[in-house]
Amino acid sequence: NVDVQCLDGLPVIIGGGIAGLMTALHLAPEPVLLLSTTPLGADASSTWAQGGLAASLGDDDDPALHLADTLAAGDGLCDRDMASRILNAAPGAIERLAGFGVRFDRTLNGTLRLGLEAAHSRRRIVHAGGDGSGREVMRALVAAVRSTPTIEVVEGFEARRLAVEDGTIAGVLARGPTGPVFFATGCVVLATGGIGGLFHDTTNPLASCGQGLALAARAGAVLADLEFIQFHPTALDGSNRPMTLISEAVRGEGAIIVDETGRRFLDGGLGAELAPRDIVARAVWRHLANGHLVFLDVREKPGATFAQQFPTIASACSKAGIDPARDLIPIRPAQHYHIGGVAVDLAGRTSIPGLWACGEVASTGLHGANRLASNSLTEAVVCARWVAESVAASPGGGGKPTMASDLPAPDPGPVRPLLSRALGVTRDGEGLKEAARALLRLAQRHDAASDSAAVGLMITIAALLRRESRGAHFRTDFPNHATVVRRSQITLDAAIAAA
Ligand code: SIN
Repeated sequence: NVDVQCLDGLPVIIGGGIAGLMTALHLAPEPVLLLSTTPLGADASSTWAQGGLAASLGDDDDPALHLADTLAAGDGLCDRDMASRILNAAPGAIERLAGFGVRFDRTLNGTLRLGLEAAHSRRRIVHAGGDGSGREVMRALVAAVRSTPTIEVVEGFEARRLAVEDGTIAGVLARGPTGPVFFATGCVVLATGGIGGLFHDTTNPLASCGQGLALAARAGAVLADLEFIQFHPTALDGSNRPMTLISEAVRGEGAIIVDETGRRFLDGGLGAELAPRDIVARAVWRHLANGHLVFLDVREKPGATFAQQFPTIASACSKAGIDPARDLIPIRPAQHYHIGGVAVDLAGRTSIPGLWACGEVASTGLHGANRLASNSLTEAVVCARWVAESVAASPGGGGKPTMASDLPAPDPGPVRPLLSRALGVTRDGEGLKEAARALLRLAQRHDAASDSAAVGLMITIAALLRRESRGAHFRTDFPNHATVVRRSQITLDAAIAAA
């Protein structure tokens, strides 16, 4: 009952966010098929991005300073060479986006307006529409993709499995609106985004639940640094799920974090709000755990210009009955970004020939143990070009109709409470072991929850094996850095064997 489409060497991109669209655009005029679960632009996490793209564009800035900030935030784990190459290419990536029609925020004399975010030593964040950067970038890229005849967009298709024959990619099994389809191709790019849907408290669309990691892991790929999950310190605390992000750019413009007594409780004195994200998230988390309430105070700074500078956030506050000009904004940390992912080289090649990965689903080593704000969209845009060049230079061909049966749609429901409890802002060995046992049982059931459980299991085992605290991974039972710094790698088989 599976419709088989032989693509004669046509590459397939899975995912319609910024990484997938940019890869497709860079491949043109090479033909490509782009699979998206939703109509392009709807519900991609890229569309939700408030913060923009970091690039050393200011007169007082250069790539070496951007690199130094990235390495410092990454807490010793960044791949320096990879980071240096990506950040050197960042200014060019902004130019390319402008070339695709992205209307970035500019000053009155037409130069790019550069914002500040935490742990950046310079103003280097390019925004669009104030806090609507992702929306504007997606608008322009979707329009560019739609007007590129060599990009065939197939909407309403969800990839379920990658076929591997003789160690190389042979195709993608997907579920479309009228049933399962097998796309026989020897060339697949994963651009599926992150894992927010595996957590109760997330700023991501709930549909982002690690499908790309599951596809890669079930195909036997190596994944890296999975234990590093970034929590954003300032999600709007309320009953809405997913939670509304309150961009770090608000603190960049002077907003402060206080508790119910009005006290600025972050260690480090004035300016502590702009410490690296992992440090601020942990401090807010601990203060909440100690029974306090925590708020963002924008009344003095940015003050009267808040609603104009941050219209998306102002509107979300207003819907929640909060008037930021008068009221404190209640906040709590929420899962925001997956630093780990499918291990890739600079060209986005994974450990499986014929499989590339780009964007949040990939792990290049740029972010180390803690991603510097607004480096992720930059990474996606920069790397998409290198992925496209590598795909275009690959021999193509391949693909074999090998899969004949459908698979259930992934359901992260049973996995969400396990990961939310064991893999929060702080972790400990006992909690991780307990979660690993439950996730192993779910992963082995081969039902709707098993892909999410397999992803959760790999993350949990990676977190158990990292017996230290570093960046976004904080173990209460191992609160210090280990003396040897190493990135982690894992496969699904290794995680199952370790559980
Ligand atoms: C933010 O706007 O605070 C988020 C930016 C990012 O995650 O890089």
